[in-house]
Amino acid sequence: MKLTIIGTGYVGLVTGTCFAEVGHQVICVDNDAAKVALLQSGGLPIYEPGLEELVNRNVAAGRLHFTASTADGVTNSDIIFIAVPTPQLPDGSVDLSFIERVAREIAGAMTSYKIIVDKSTVPVRTGEKVAETIKRYCKTKVECDVVSNPEFLREGFAVTDLMKPDRIVVGVRSQRPVAAMKEVYAPFAAPIVVTDIHSAELIKHASNSFLALKISYINAVSVICEATGANVQEVAAGMGMDERIGRRFLNPSLGFGGSCFPKDLSAFVQIAGQLGYDFGLLKEVQKINAEQMNRFLKKITDTLWVLRDKKIGVLGLAFKQNTDDVRMSPAIELCQRLQKEGATLRVHDPKAMDKARPLLPDATYVEDMNEVADGCDALVIATEWEEFRQLDLERTRKALSHPIIFDGRNLFDPEEMERLGFIYKSIGR
Ligand code: UDX
Repeated sequence: MKLTIIGTGYVGLVTGTCFAEVGHQVICVDNDAAKVALLQSGGLPIYEPGLEELVNRNVAAGRLHFTASTADGVTNSDIIFIAVPTPQLPDGSVDLSFIERVAREIAGAMTSYKIIVDKSTVPVRTGEKVAETIKRYCKTKVECDVVSNPEFLREGFAVTDLMKPDRIVVGVRSQRPVAAMKEVYAPFAAPIVVTDIHSAELIKHASNSFLALKISYINAVSVICEATGANVQEVAAGMGMDERIGRRFLNPSLGFGGSCFPKDLSAFVQIAGQLGYDFGLLKEVQKINAEQMNRFLKKITDTLWVLRDKKIGVLGLAFKQNTDDVRMSPAIELCQRLQKEGATLRVHDPKAMDKARPLLPDATYVEDMNEVADGCDALVIATEWEEFRQLDLERTRKALSHPIIFDGRNLFDPEEMERLGFIYKSIGR
């Protein structure tokens, strides 16, 4: 099939590439000419495991193309996916101006029937607005169908999530585009859930809010664990064996971040409010998340007392493992708050250092994770990168001027750390 994806961010680029991988002809459009030039020359604007190989293979096979022209994409495809940013506005609602502009651009370029698919995360009823906009701005008055097809990919695992999805959600306003949408996704061999368009939009916000709720739930339980001497890892393991609950997304942390959960929660709370429902449950999820960071910082100040003139090593800057994305990263917030208290930082992240530099210009960036602790008063673990588990602990203990580790991701065993001579403070244990 001939498909166009507008927007080559984490969602658009991975989606387009995976579509090409299963045999579709794909055009990826971006209005950032520099990004398009980079992609055309074989470079990638983001780090995502497995993506580079997939892009190269599909470009070489002639199935994947990049262009800065929306009109090219619209003319040469039957189905147009919109995957542009939907950032948060200061009041917590969603900025839909990119979606609206793309809808106008598509309308301006349409000369035959098209299926327009919204992949960006949007508030319920956005699809309706997109359809109205296209109708209004389409000079040739050709028909189209607007579909909601939310993405559920996790950064860092995006290729796997896309190639082996749990389900595909297709929200429609009529049955006309259903067969084509099923054909797009047939190679992925996943259950396809066809709903009305409002329900599809809500499935996305409701799912992400529920996952965030699960994290805040275990983070709240971690507070009780600390107060009683229980171990949150054991509690999570015991809870997770109940199939109705499940173990995933019960990892306590210094809070969730990223470009999705915080934004989607705020948006869902806002939409609910506009519809006359005070979604207090989700407001509490946000509050627990903010408190979790405060509590982690308090752990640091309770131990180190005054932070002014203290040198602290920080492992992890990305908002989670396997990504270079630092948007709404708890690790970055933590670093900024430590700096505000007067601490100087030595930081390391396997992939996110370049993207972190503008946010933390005064930190010292260390290439080797084993050298981060050198001369520091304490070491903080802020992102759950798997390789941090291989840290040379013997060297780290000697390198620190005091053997103190604050682990915001529970990567190590507290008893083992104590045996190795560390003062080791983690979450809920
Ligand atoms: C999320 C959703 O998982 C995905 O389905 C959606 O479509 C986009 O948003 P993403 O933001 O890429 O994906 O990452 P995710 O793996 O969900 O993690 C989000 C945040 O929660 C990270 O900061 C992560 O470290 C944190 N987290 C996750 C926890 O603190 N504990 C957990 O158990 C899981």
